Amino acid sequence: MIYGANGFVGQELAREAVSRGLQPILAGRNKEALAALASELDLVYKIFDLRHQQEVNQALRGLTLLMNCAGPFKYTYQPLVEACLKEKLHYLDITGEIPVFQAIQARDAEAKSAGVMLMPGSGFDVVPTDCLALYLKNKLPAAVELMLAYHAEGPARLPPGTAKTSVEMIPFGINVRVDGNLKQATDPFATRMIDFGSGPREAIRLNWGDVFTAFYSTGIPNISNYAVLHPKLIQRMKKVRKIRFLFRLKWFRARMQKQLKGGSTPEQRAQSTMHVWGEVKDPFGNVVQARLHGPEAGVVWTVKTCLDAIQEIEKGRILPGFQTPASVFGADFVLTGSGIIREDVRI
Ligand SMILES: NC(=O)c1ccc[n+]([C@@H]2O[C@H](COP(=O)([O-])OP(=O)(O)OC[C@H]3O[C@@H](n4cnc5c(N)ncnc54)[C@H](OP(=O)(O)O)[C@@H]3O)[C@@H](O)[C@H]2O)c1
Repeated sequence: MIYGANGFVGQELAREAVSRGLQPILAGRNKEALAALASELDLVYKIFDLRHQQEVNQALRGLTLLMNCAGPFKYTYQPLVEACLKEKLHYLDITGEIPVFQAIQARDAEAKSAGVMLMPGSGFDVVPTDCLALYLKNKLPAAVELMLAYHAEGPARLPPGTAKTSVEMIPFGINVRVDGNLKQATDPFATRMIDFGSGPREAIRLNWGDVFTAFYSTGIPNISNYAVLHPKLIQRMKKVRKIRFLFRLKWFRARMQKQLKGGSTPEQRAQSTMHVWGEVKDPFGNVVQARLHGPEAGVVWTVKTCLDAIQEIEKGRILPGFQTPASVFGADFVLTGSGIIREDVRI
């Protein structure tokens, strides 16, 4: 079942699932939109909202896997995870929200005893970076520091839900992992020059799920994330930080979210690419770097990683409990199928 299947990403996931020969049940709370999509794809749909736990449990009864695409996930994960634990379904989602990873990880013991796998972060956030982190850790087993970064090129904008979700995350600040613990970055606008393959670019610190997940995939105790962002966006982030306290108010976030536009056309996505970079260091001065190159991230790469994960699970590759993609499927999972290039960087 895909919950939130009528969303921008959910729809593309449903379409691509069908073209891979899968027949997911489409689900969500928007009857009109789901009925139209189900009729286009000749699939079954179920309408239920998440406010009534009994209804959610009943809707999931008898199924084996739920892919949650309804974000911001801080509002949706809880009843769906609850139902997956009760009805014994594997739970996947495409969150990148650190508090959501934390809350789902806290259900690890229950998931283990139910034989259920909980794998949040099955989209671009965090599959490519998670797999790259494990690849680098395998090359430098004594690594104590991990840096990950991305650089998007091309005309595709973020999916609309990603823009909305990033507003929800502003009050949480920029997180880093220090000596195994999650901390607020003391230098939230730290920059670093990174070569994604076509010369050095300035990348700025940002919040990304790896700060939480890569610790579980690699055990590396110090983790930070960077991205190349448009200078106008960096300026806006700096202004926003000064009034961050206002973003604790729901009505203020809603007002900001109304002003955001997101989304992309298939043509824009086809003209866009994503470059991922990672670096590990050990205490002896050794440094290893590698890169990944792939398609547009918000929809194309995300849909790909979700479906690749679902197909691995169909083959029986599951581990009960809270899991990260690389911890179950391995560092090479990101290379599944075609279209992704991984390269080692000579330093
Ligand atoms: N991991 C990644 O790399 C990655 C990539 C892309 C997107 N995302 C995340 O995925 C999420 C969806 O993005 P999108 O662009 O598809 O968003 P979208 O177009 O706004 O769609 C959101 C979907 O979630 C549903 N939804 C939202 N809140 C809900 C709630 N409280 N109860 C039930 N359903 C709810 C919406 O239902 P209605 O139509 O009824 O409102 C809609 O189906 C975002 O959080 C985004 O950050 C992650």
